[in-house]
Amino acid sequence: MADEKKTVVVGVTGSIAAYKAADLVSKLSQNSLDVHVIMTDSATKLVSERTFQTLSRNPVVTTLWDLPEWKPGHISLADKALILVIAPCTANMIAKMANGIADDALSTYYLSHRGQTMIAPAMNNAMWAHPATLENCERLKKRGCIFVGPAKGMLACGTEGDGRMEEPALICRKILEIADK
Ligand SMILES: Cc1cc2nc3c(=O)[nH]c(=O)nc-3n(C[C@H](O)[C@H](O)[C@H](O)COP(=O)(O)O)c2cc1C
Repeated sequence: MADEKKTVVVGVTGSIAAYKAADLVSKLSQNSLDVHVIMTDSATKLVSERTFQTLSRNPVVTTLWDLPEWKPGHISLADKALILVIAPCTANMIAKMANGIADDALSTYYLSHRGQTMIAPAMNNAMWAHPATLENCERLKKRGCIFVGPAKGMLACGTEGDGRMEEPALICRKILEIADK
């Protein structure tokens, strides 16, 4: 169908940059994409689920266990999503993805997702430079995950360095490039 919207899943994790994900979701929705948000428990401590529900115009997934339909939500979404973008993506979520750990809604969704995966890391510069994080990122890149950022600049912890989440406008452009192919 010509006017059928393409589905993008936005994963939001517990980084201080989680507020930037609201802008990303807004931009994606304004570009006629069907946006579904999955938040980790830590992300819900930083930004309200209601913010993403309103901006995406879709229910937000925060748990594996609150199911509105017979089919688990992560499987229903995986059947139709073109792109999974995790922005911001914590060091913890990168580690879980690299190791195939599926202990919450977002990491479980990642394993069931068959489309393209994009990761926008956001963390303190020491966490980004840690050998564990670097090795995990290499594993994910080898599997075809696209990394956007992190950018250099002033970090929330007060130091300057690599670790800022890339700007939502740039991430949105990269998603549209894939969606328009
Ligand atoms: C205020 C606050 C800000 C945080 N910011 C980050 C961050 O930017 N990047 C990161 O990797 N972890 C950050 N953390 C730590 C993560 O929240 C923590 O590792 C958590 O277990 C991540 O869970 P998740 O990956 O399931 O969202 C922050 C913690 C707090 C309390």
